[in-house]
Amino acid sequence: MLSAWPSGSQVRVELPSDITASDVEEAMGASYLTRDVLAYVKGQKALGFEKILLPAWLGNSVGPTTLAKLRAAGTKVEIGLFEAEAKKLNESFAKYIRSGKPLVTLKSAMTLDGKIADATKPGSEPGSAVPATEGARSGYHWITGELARAHVQQLRHQSDAILAGVGTVMADDPLLTDRSGLPRRRKLLRVILDSYLRIPPASRVIQTADNDVLVLCSAAEQSAKQALEVKGIRVQQISATGEGRPDFAAIVESLGDLEITSLLIEGGALVNAAALASGEVDKVFLYYAPKIFGGDAVPFLGGESLHGKAQCVQRFELHRFGEDFALEGYLHNTYSV
Ligand SMILES: NC(=O)c1ccc[n+]([C@@H]2O[C@H](COP(=O)([O-])OP(=O)(O)OC[C@H]3O[C@@H](n4cnc5c(N)ncnc54)[C@H](OP(=O)(O)O)[C@@H]3O)[C@@H](O)[C@H]2O)c1
Repeated sequence: MLSAWPSGSQVRVELPSDITASDVEEAMGASYLTRDVLAYVKGQKALGFEKILLPAWLGNSVGPTTLAKLRAAGTKVEIGLFEAEAKKLNESFAKYIRSGKPLVTLKSAMTLDGKIADATKPGSEPGSAVPATEGARSGYHWITGELARAHVQQLRHQSDAILAGVGTVMADDPLLTDRSGLPRRRKLLRVILDSYLRIPPASRVIQTADNDVLVLCSAAEQSAKQALEVKGIRVQQISATGEGRPDFAAIVESLGDLEITSLLIEGGALVNAAALASGEVDKVFLYYAPKIFGGDAVPFLGGESLHGKAQCVQRFELHRFGEDFALEGYLHNTYSV
């Protein structure tokens, strides 16, 4: 028996003779099973299995034939074990295999009045240095507490790519790295939106680039491109919106082409608004601290309007992180994309 999810006991038995390894691959590719499981099945193909437990089924046209063959050959196939949990666990892979695009999650940390930073910028106080950490902070002060910030590292860990705007790079000088301390299967791709390549060469994201930084521009000078490329930074031109900035739909599509299955947006106000207005955001993770900034603090959304289309968060859950809380919810059903 192969217990595909969650990991469990594996009893090896004979594979029915008319089932080939490619049949198995086809069936697994059509399910929500991970590549690790697929690799296991391929490795064990000569030994076969008597029962397949599929937590959820994609419902496309590829797998059912194989499943019918397996069933006809006496292999038991059960679908729906821990379905809800499995669907959540595999949501980025499911979105990617259905659409060729990553699951897009927008994360933001804010005050109760929806401010993502106060008016004080790092470095604006005399004798101050740029902080060594980044994220949901306001000037020198974090918006959310340690527990919420540690959870953000989990989100980064679960993502193939993280995206921020050049405005955030200039304001906060973030590293945008996965500091969960957990091993990764692939490097976290750090993506910066920067229409004209004005990203400071001294910024930490540029200084620490190790084949893991992609800058997306729309109208950059060749010399500016080359200056980044010689540092090993990938620069890609994306078709522009009416405002001359990289178009979000094209951004998400091109990240899909790079086999990015999950994208975490940690934008500032302008990037958050553009991402939501584009309709490309599948999921939000919004952290709230019990604070009120008021005044001219930076809002969650700036610039672009949602064109009168309220974004409705469905199937949401609330999480508590010490004094803070977070709302995790969906703007789309990724299983019906
Ligand atoms: N609390 C949090 O979770 C959190 C997270 C991140 C940032 N922040 C805060 O957000 C503030 C920065 O916000 P921001 O609005 O100035 O910066 P931003 O949203 O990070 O970056 C905006 C800039 O990105 C560039 N850009 C390129 N393509 C874009 C597109 N398609 N849509 C929108 N922008 C695009 C634009 O510059 P060009 O036109 O030159 O390309 C734009 O000015 C900082 O104070 C930071 O602390 C808070």
